[in-house]
Amino acid sequence: MKFETLAIHAGQEPDPNNGAVMTPVYLTSTYMQDGVGRPRQGYEYSRTQNPTRKALQDCLAALEGGSYGLAFASGLAATDTVLRLLDSDSHVVAGDDVYGGTFRLFDKVLRRFKLDFTFADTTDPESVAEALTPSTRLVWLETPTNPYLRVTDIRAVAEIVHSHENKPLMVVDNTFATPYLQRPLELGADIVVHSMTKYLGGHSDVVGGAVIVKDKVLAEKLAFLQNAVGAVIGPMDSFLFLRGIKTLPIRMDRHAENAMAIVEFLEEHPKVGKFIYPFHPSHPQYKIAKQQMRNGGGMISFIMKGGRAAAIKVAEATKIFTLAESLGGVESLIEVPAAMTHLSVAGSQLDVDPGLVRLSVGIENKDDLLDDIRQALDKA
Ligand SMILES: Cc1ncc(COP(=O)(O)O)c(C=O)c1O
Repeated sequence: MKFETLAIHAGQEPDPNNGAVMTPVYLTSTYMQDGVGRPRQGYEYSRTQNPTRKALQDCLAALEGGSYGLAFASGLAATDTVLRLLDSDSHVVAGDDVYGGTFRLFDKVLRRFKLDFTFADTTDPESVAEALTPSTRLVWLETPTNPYLRVTDIRAVAEIVHSHENKPLMVVDNTFATPYLQRPLELGADIVVHSMTKYLGGHSDVVGGAVIVKDKVLAEKLAFLQNAVGAVIGPMDSFLFLRGIKTLPIRMDRHAENAMAIVEFLEEHPKVGKFIYPFHPSHPQYKIAKQQMRNGGGMISFIMKGGRAAAIKVAEATKIFTLAESLGGVESLIEVPAAMTHLSVAGSQLDVDPGLVRLSVGIENKDDLLDDIRQALDKA
């Protein structure tokens, strides 16, 4: 089956009991057993397994071209569970432009558990090679990144990582691209992570995370941790993600079409110093983006010539673009990362330009979006 069909059907069968076409929301914490230690269909307790969660997990695995999916309470819960694969004193190489919350988890929480991190420019595969040490057990990439939309050549980095003596695990946070645009497991990644809160959910109404792998042993270790640590997603949220995912391909196409129209407008605008969009020829990794992504996605960043004050003015002046954190919903959002989502990296190696504005371009009518950005820039 092709992607669009999998998005609607993978992991989901009409209910064998009554024919319900939509996966039921199994609001149960426990399951009747036929005898002591004899659960009827393998289900014992909903932290370990739940049928609605299972449908979502199977759907995620199919979409990423993996064999196993695991769903979590948030993207960061998924990230945290992956890092728990490591023993203390392990070294991790991570991108130097990862999501601020990922950086905070690594730098402020996991360092306390004796994990060591080096943040490297993963857009240059050589700098990943230089950062690897004899203790490196995991390499963490985000591509495109949040908020600079830097693109890493997944295949090139995977080759370097896999030729290292320790065989570190290579993880790609695929939140911005989604499996519709980019499939890291096919390019050599061992693990894909998502904040499903964004494009997979697509409607800004639910928080969740995902981990997808091909390897059975790795899947078993992660399933053990999912149950042992317990950062699981609930059945209602699983249902909302299943529903959101059904329209992922058509949403992503429209996000990209609208984003491209806004990029064309921004490139002419005298108040905009620089704009960043992976599918624009001015992007430094344009060629790689074109190779490994189906389209440019719905995220645009631009830097106001007037700096922080001008960025705040624009963000406060839009009428259709809502001033809010997060991204990936059908509605357009605008924010100033240095003052909002990326406050936790202020003063660090991952600091963001204070004049940078981030747009999550929604699927509204593109002329309305253009009018809105135009009038907001006029006021800045
Ligand atoms: C790229 C990326 N990864 C991970 C996360 C964390 O996900 P969550 O907010 O669902 O915990 C985010 C959140 O913004 C993100 O943008």
